[in-house]
Amino acid sequence: PRILVLASGSGTNVQALIDATRERDFPGRIVAVGSNRPKAFALERAAQANIETFVVDHTQYDSREAFDAALMAEIRRYNPDVLLLAGFMRILTDDFVRAFRGILLNIHPSLLPKYTGLNTHQRALEAGDPVHGTSVHFVTEELDGGPVIAQAEVKVSLEDTPESLAEKVKAKEHILYPIVVRWFCEGRIQLGSDYILFDGELL
Ligand code: GRF
Repeated sequence: PRILVLASGSGTNVQALIDATRERDFPGRIVAVGSNRPKAFALERAAQANIETFVVDHTQYDSREAFDAALMAEIRRYNPDVLLLAGFMRILTDDFVRAFRGILLNIHPSLLPKYTGLNTHQRALEAGDPVHGTSVHFVTEELDGGPVIAQAEVKVSLEDTPESLAEKVKAKEHILYPIVVRWFCEGRIQLGSDYILFDGELL
């Protein structure tokens, strides 16, 4: 399978995916990394690994629809079987999400359905949650609301700050995302209407 990753930031998850897909037995390969931000360090990481990169700069488009159409056109050039969001900080239009339904995955830094949207670490701390974590889910029209495939937990300690918690969560993400992508590439995970099949069984 051909994997395409979209990222906006530092790209530590992109790095984890690059490292995992380089393993000889990994069932898929990253064909490109794209970003909406020309300076995203994620692009640097991809270039270092000899992976093609592209930028669709959202500041150059006057509507979300126009941006998404341009992004979609760029993605289509690579004909991906798997489309991964890894810290991609743009909300996608319903048309975009529908176009890639079933192959579009995201990693979100909370134990969904808790804390959709931004500032998840801060919110978990403020709520006094003893555990926090990360979720890999299929992307559907509902923001951070698609069926969850897998989660990893971290313990929250009294000393934690949003920054320390983010770091702990990322360490788990770097393990979890490659595992889920491996399963997906092996054909083990499928999105149904609003449910997931794992090895053909309802998850
Ligand atoms: C991750 O925590 C991910 O869950 C969230 O954004 C962060 C991206 O970090 N969506 P990085 O750019 O992969 O380091």
